[in-house]
Formats: sequence, C-alpha cells, structure tokens
Amino acid sequence: MRRIISLTLALFLSGTLAFAQSTPQLASTLPTIPQARGIGGHFGMVVAQERLAAQIGVGILDRGGNAVDAAVAVGFALAVTYPRAGNLGGGGFMVIHLAKGARGNEARDIAIDYRETAPEAATPTMFLDAAGNPDPAKSRDSGLSVGVPGTVAGLALAHDKYGSGRLSLAELIAPAIRLAEQGFRVQDDLADSLPAAAKKLARFPSTAGILLKNGGKPLQSGDRLIQFDLADTLQAIAARGPRAFYEGTTAKLIADAVQQAGGIMTEQDLANYRAIERPVVRGTYRGRTIVSMPPPSSGGVHLIEMLNILEGYDLRHLGRGDEALHYFIEAMKRAYADRAVFMGDPDAVKIPQAGLISKKYADSLRAEITDKATPSADIHPGKPGEHEGQNTTHHSIIDRDGNAVSNTYTLNFSYGLGLIADGTGVLLNNELDDFTAKAGASNAYGLVGFAANLPGPGKRPLSSMTPTIVLQDGKPLLITGSPGGSRIITAVLQVVTNVIDFQMPVADAVSAPRIHQQWQPEETVVEPGFAPEVLAALTARGHMIVPTRPGTSANSIEVTADGYVGAADPRTRGALAAGY
Ligand code: GLY
Repeated sequence: MRRIISLTLALFLSGTLAFAQSTPQLASTLPTIPQARGIGGHFGMVVAQERLAAQIGVGILDRGGNAVDAAVAVGFALAVTYPRAGNLGGGGFMVIHLAKGARGNEARDIAIDYRETAPEAATPTMFLDAAGNPDPAKSRDSGLSVGVPGTVAGLALAHDKYGSGRLSLAELIAPAIRLAEQGFRVQDDLADSLPAAAKKLARFPSTAGILLKNGGKPLQSGDRLIQFDLADTLQAIAARGPRAFYEGTTAKLIADAVQQAGGIMTEQDLANYRAIERPVVRGTYRGRTIVSMPPPSSGGVHLIEMLNILEGYDLRHLGRGDEALHYFIEAMKRAYADRAVFMGDPDAVKIPQAGLISKKYADSLRAEITDKATPSADIHPGKPGEHEGQNTTHHSIIDRDGNAVSNTYTLNFSYGLGLIADGTGVLLNNELDDFTAKAGASNAYGLVGFAANLPGPGKRPLSSMTPTIVLQDGKPLLITGSPGGSRIITAVLQVVTNVIDFQMPVADAVSAPRIHQQWQPEETVVEPGFAPEVLAALTARGHMIVPTRPGTSANSIEVTADGYVGAADPRTRGALAAGY
C-alpha cells in the first residue's frame, strides 16, 4: 500500500514550504486552554456546543425520550441557536449504540450517513478555472460549493428507526421552533464568531437581514436573534415530515438561491436526496471496541488505523512525553497519507477499508517508525489551519438505558457559504470544497486528495468527521467526536488515548493540549500547554513543531463506576454538559 502512495506522490507533489518561520511571535500570543469540569449524572447526559440546545436535549431525556430522540432535538435546536455549524442546510454523521432491549433488539451499532451530495450536474472539473487549476472561489465562495443538504433527512431517519417511539418528530422539533420564533439572546460562541464572518454574510442580503444589523454590523452579545422564516421551515417539517424540506416551496427556494449564487443544484436534486444507513467501522484497542463512522468519512478508518499502530507501544508506561508524542506524530503522518490516496465516496470508489484497519497493516507501518521523524515524501503548497476552528459541531448523548449517540454535523466553513436561502431561514453549506478539485490539490484544510475524491454526480465528498463510541464489555465507555476540519480525527484519537492509556478523567482528557500532523505539510501543530522541553525533544527528533491556537471541540461523555461524566470542551464558549 505504502509503495503505491509513494509512487503517486512522486507524480503529483513537488516543492517544499516551511511553515515554522513566525513561531516565536505566534506562540506568545496564543490563548491557553481552560480546564473543563466534569459534570455528573445518573439518568442521562447531553454534551453539546451550545447551552440552550444541550438543555433541550436533557429535557427530551427527562420526558422519556431516548438518546436518539435527544440527539434529533439537539440537532434541530442547534440549527437555530448555533448557526455557524448547527444546521438544516448542511450534513453530517450519527453513530448510535442501541443497548440490549431497546426496540426489542440485541445491542447493536448503527451509522447514519447524512452527508451532503453533489448535484446531478456535477463534473470532475467543476472546481477548475479556465487554465485547469483549482479555483477556490468556485469550491468555497460560490453557489457551486453547496451540496444537497442531508441533515433533515438524517435526523428524520434516526428518529423514525431508532427513536424511542414515545415522542413524535414534531415534539422533538417544537423547542427549536419556539427558539426561532421567540428569539434568544446572542451570547458565547455565537457572539464570538459573528464578527469574523460578517464580511462573508454581508454578501447576501437574505443573510444580512437576519444575522447582521445597523449597516452590516453583526449581532452582538445580548441582542435578540429572531428567525421567523426558519421557524416556518421547521414548522413545515414538523407538520409534514422531511419531504416538506426536500419538495415544494422550501426546495424551490433553496434551488433558486443556489442557482442565483452561481450553483447548479436543482429541485430534483433535493427531491432525490436520501440519508443512508451504513455498517459502522469497528476496531479494537487494548481490549475495548471502537465503533465509528465509515466512509464517506475518513474519520473512523484512520482513527482505527492510528490506534492500531499505537497499540504496539506501551503508552501508559511512557506517559505523554516526547517519545509517546513522536509515535503519535508518526502514526498520524501515515494515516493521513493513506487518506489522501485511498478515501472517497464508497458508493463511487473501491476503498481498501479492511486492509487499512487491519492489525497486520498497522504492524507493517509501525515497523517503519524509528526514533527520528520520517520526513513527509514531499510538501504540498497548501496552508492548513487557514480555516480551522469550530466549523462543525459535535454532541454526545447517553440515556438511562445506555443507548448512546455520537453526532457530528457541519456546514463546512463557519456559517457555510454564508448564504441563507431567501424565505427559508436555511443557511447553506459549502461542503463540496471537501472534494479534491484536481488530483494532488488540497482543500481548505490543506488535506491533499487524489482521483478517489474528485467531484461527480450524486457523490458525497470525503469527510474527516469522526463521531465515535468506545465500548467496554459491549457497553459504552466513552462517547466522543469533534469539529475542526482535518484536526478532527487526531483530536478524537487523543481523547480516546488520554482516557484509555493515560488514565485521565474525561474532563482532563478533553482539556489536555493536542497535537496534529496530517502528513502534508511537514509541520506538526501543537496547542499551548506542552512543556517546552518536550517540544524541544520533538524538534531534536526531526519534527517541525509549530504552535497553533486551540482548535477542535471534543464534547465527550465517559461512563464511570459512579455514573455518567460529561465534559464540554473548554475551547468553545457556551459548550455545556448537562446531566441529571
Ligand atoms: N467539512 C469538514 C469535514 O467534513 O471533514
């Protein structure tokens, strides 16, 4: 496998870039990571990136809903209260663990793929300019970047097949409708994120009229955000089900808005959209079972690939010092190299998934690792980190019966394309930038891709979202996941290993500074909080260490002997663990 990658790379990549030049100045200005607090509960726990939505989830559990019901209610609520990533106009993935007895079944694990799809008119060259080069203005900033939204179909499917049956879809949507209609005070991450997005949002009067005010100034902390059109769209879904979104007036308004912004999505594309149930990807790590999202996410496969490599080292004994971190970096580099070449939409390309997650393959990769950094074969001239941050959102939920949900969904960039389809209140994604515009090119996260991830009709762009449930003796031990673009998979890896190897309580596991390496470029980014001597030792091994601001937000739950412990990631203001 590795030989194929090297050959492919030699063909496509050239040149070197150094990213570490401004390191000292950057390091001194980076914010530190606050410590998360573990919140206890015995009957249920919801950890989400926005507090109103988290409280709605707990309310649903308290009314007898199961974890899936709560996740669906939180998903709809975040579309109102957390517009930078919560959505109806984007897509995502839900991993579910149904406990024994739920719906009369043996325990089982389910993955729901509600990733956006490319319109039928999509072509492999749709994101190239006249000279045949990738054109980010097309894949990130125009209507061409909008994928057919999957969220409404995905949440409805989850409720229909795996909800408790005690609460209707309308009952789960009702709190979101109330918040949209009556409004709520702008606070926390919404207030923090709007100023940076204001210029993008101002391009579209339909968006500016809702999220900006006073001549283009963003809503501020304490202002009331009311979204009547969004309330109407939610009301229609509550009354008539998901088809009210994918057909009729709402679908027409969305298709019109996308086309006016230069896109090719049609009403028929919306009518054709289907969420898909897929077998989860499953691995083992030190006696636990890892249950995660299969392709079109790369998350689960590469999480398991990295864990398999790391399983060969005595991490607990090593502690989180430079030797252990060196192995993490080397594992990350190899997994992301595989990601670039092999991964795409499983309905369109053949992915060697079984090979990638096999212990034997991990053994062969581990055998390549020495005590010095292995240089990446070549450097792609992208700039990862440019758009990193809370561009996606993750919630983890468990109910009193041990049913668990790990859900990550997204608009891709913060506030997606920035376009609210006029008359719907629905903010649209720019997810199609996650395709590879041209073999060897990188997306906004600096992730290099090849033929497997080129755009095509109805295809789903490759994702990094990694909603994950770790089982011990068949029952949930840890529920985790994260936003953060390319940094998602490595964030989840570190939460899992912090709990299992380094024996941290979940609040510490989530707060601990993280590293990230994605094979291209050569740099390993490190959050504030690592000891300078550890970083110096990594540099001495040959790693290019680059400080970065805290990113990702791994809202997680651990099941302990004393009950559920929820940890809201302290990197995002307003994230909340709510238990009872
Ligand atoms: N748009 C980020 C991801 O799906 O990985």
